[in-house]
Amino acid sequence: MSAHSIQLDRHGRLKHFLTTEGLSRDILTSILDYAESFAGVSGRAVKKVPLLRGKTVANLFFESSTRTRTTFELAAKRLSADVLNINIATSATSKGESLRDTLHTLEAMHCDLFVVRHGNSGAAHFIAGQVADNVHIINAGDGRHAHPTQAMLDVFTIRRHKPDFESLRVAIVGDIAHSRVARSKIHALSTLGVSDIRVIAPKTLLPVAIESLGVRVFHDLHEGLREVDVITMLRLQRERISNAVLPSEEEYFQCFGLTEARLSVASPDVMVMHPGPINRGIEIDSQVADGARSVILQQVSHGIAVRMAVMAMVTGAASDAGSGAD
Ligand code: NCD
Repeated sequence: MSAHSIQLDRHGRLKHFLTTEGLSRDILTSILDYAESFAGVSGRAVKKVPLLRGKTVANLFFESSTRTRTTFELAAKRLSADVLNINIATSATSKGESLRDTLHTLEAMHCDLFVVRHGNSGAAHFIAGQVADNVHIINAGDGRHAHPTQAMLDVFTIRRHKPDFESLRVAIVGDIAHSRVARSKIHALSTLGVSDIRVIAPKTLLPVAIESLGVRVFHDLHEGLREVDVITMLRLQRERISNAVLPSEEEYFQCFGLTEARLSVASPDVMVMHPGPINRGIEIDSQVADGARSVILQQVSHGIAVRMAVMAMVTGAASDAGSGAD
């Protein structure tokens, strides 16, 4: 079954959120629009809407995470769900229980939604194929494959500043080869109408045939950044890289690190993004990370609204979103 069809129910509505690849412009736009309706909730004195009251959300993180796990937890709580955080390091999985057995155990506790992060590409799809029909899966990052909610919170942040996607020039810089964020963001942006997407990286950090995703490849940062409206910097994913393909950190920063001086060729109101965690002085200079062009902390805040939207949509609660989120 294709990734596309497993994500949708028979009425074409989002049932699991596993990848941005293959989803329609309408579905991606609905996620952004719902997220917009939730964005105000975090600023209220009472930060809750009742859309997932009575539902149980389990955060199943097989790989470490700070901002993704905590923003999923906050999103679920702001939707009034009960939330379980399963720490895999101390769970039965570390005693040898199979993924399928762990899942069925959690299902017996009547969880409605699993948020899954896993080191293996394809893990979230595997789980979506195992669970009962009324259980929903959201992929919070699987290996180097996909990280769809990160892509959507990035796109949400872009849309808030620069809504005209047709004319947008976007650069994604750094370790593309190991980045699930890059893949999911490229699929989302191109479906939403962005035609000028560039990837900028050393040859060793680019996956083969990346051009087939409709992007232009640059190996020179100065060239690639010319007139761009949005720059996404990526972390060097050391945990997934063998040292042989890497130059020294100093050398990497010299060639691909984002500094104020490097920004001079980009559009004057360029947005600088990073999914975090950032490595200051390796892929980005502190002056830029903390500077006026940076929207890195906005990305974190928007992550809550976007994750609320996705949770409400996959569980079918989104049809009440207008009344609940006003
Ligand atoms: C990203 C991830 O885990 O894929 N971070 C995140 O979710 N905030 C990127 C990264 O780890 O570099």
